[in-house]
Amino acid sequence: MNVIARPVPRDIASLRSDFPILSQTVRGKPLVFLDSAASAMKPRVVIDAMVGAMETQYANIHRGAHWMSERTTEAFEATRDSVARLMNAGSRDEIIFTRNSTEAMNLVAHSYGRGVMKPGQAVVISEMEHHSNIIPWQLLRDDHGIELRVARVTDSGELDMESLAGLLSDGRVGLVAITHMSNVLGTYTPAERIVALAHEHGAKVLLDGSQAIVHRKIDVQALDVDFYAWTGHKLYGPTGIGVLYGKPELLEAMPPFMGGGDMISSVTFERSTWARVPHKFEAGTPAILEGIGLNAAIGYVEAIGYQSIAAHEAALTEHALAKLATVEGLTVLGRAQDRGGVISFTLEGAHSHDVATLLDRSGIAVRAGHHCAEPLMHRFGLDSTARASFGLYTTTDEIDFLAESLGRVRAFFA
Ligand code: ALA
Repeated sequence: MNVIARPVPRDIASLRSDFPILSQTVRGKPLVFLDSAASAMKPRVVIDAMVGAMETQYANIHRGAHWMSERTTEAFEATRDSVARLMNAGSRDEIIFTRNSTEAMNLVAHSYGRGVMKPGQAVVISEMEHHSNIIPWQLLRDDHGIELRVARVTDSGELDMESLAGLLSDGRVGLVAITHMSNVLGTYTPAERIVALAHEHGAKVLLDGSQAIVHRKIDVQALDVDFYAWTGHKLYGPTGIGVLYGKPELLEAMPPFMGGGDMISSVTFERSTWARVPHKFEAGTPAILEGIGLNAAIGYVEAIGYQSIAAHEAALTEHALAKLATVEGLTVLGRAQDRGGVISFTLEGAHSHDVATLLDRSGIAVRAGHHCAEPLMHRFGLDSTARASFGLYTTTDEIDFLAESLGRVRAFFA
């Protein structure tokens, strides 16, 4: 695979040239893309891997006895090895492909929640969860008799560990399902401490790593986490492919999520048996091309290296917080000690949708709204914020332009 190794902070201009879309203009202005937390742009290697597969090596996988199917199966299954390496999983069989993080978390809610947890047990989430880590547990609560408990978030936008400890203290919690990095506040949660605390009280842990894995090296064995969910399209890969890591003994104990082809060992009308893990959880034709694209994305990220990526994110975040502090009437949501390149803010006198619309006139893309985290908005007495989020291609010049443009937006509404 043709991956390009370049340390991010040293050569950002050449790194940006790996992403064809970044040279586009929007409304006649250079694109300033500050919405990578929603979905990141794709480097040329990802595009080429997917187009190349379609042009030269494509068939359905796991089933054909022919050359094309065998080669395509190898290419798709190579991604499982890459994901296992990326997350330092103990084995490739601990990696399940899903459509996205949402499906990964629904898989845990369905197969672990309904299949292993018992009515009367509880699930703990937090106030800073994305809807995808709230709704599956509400559905589980409503049809399986599971109690749903919510750990508090402090005024600074951090997970309240005392609140979490209090919710775990009666020993009835079967699962703690918490984000590893808030998609609104940019807060990193203390994953090691959460896992240790939950395990002390007999609970398993699912981390929603949709945002965290983009910026930080994830080592599931060092974390000792039970489940870890993430999605390809935020990690510079395609949409339609996500990942669930699970500890092998848990995956073995869990019933299938969906039924269909590829997840069975044998089928009769009376009784069917399941394929071995992880295929037991992968019914139907998977996202073949997207899997191949994800492998290219992982190779790209690994070639740059998480050390460089994390250093770049830390520098950008510090720069952005300092710059945004100079914009009159702007308030950043949260001030966590450990935070990354996702910054939500309000601008006095302006609705976040108007802020985003006016920024768009200058070619700046930010997200506005509740960010699929309505309860967190309510926690802070808001209905929406604007949000700037950074990728490995984001520059300090772009952040400076954002701050300048926000100054003009503020003047417009003053
Ligand atoms: N979860 C994505 C976001 O935060 C879509 O924007």
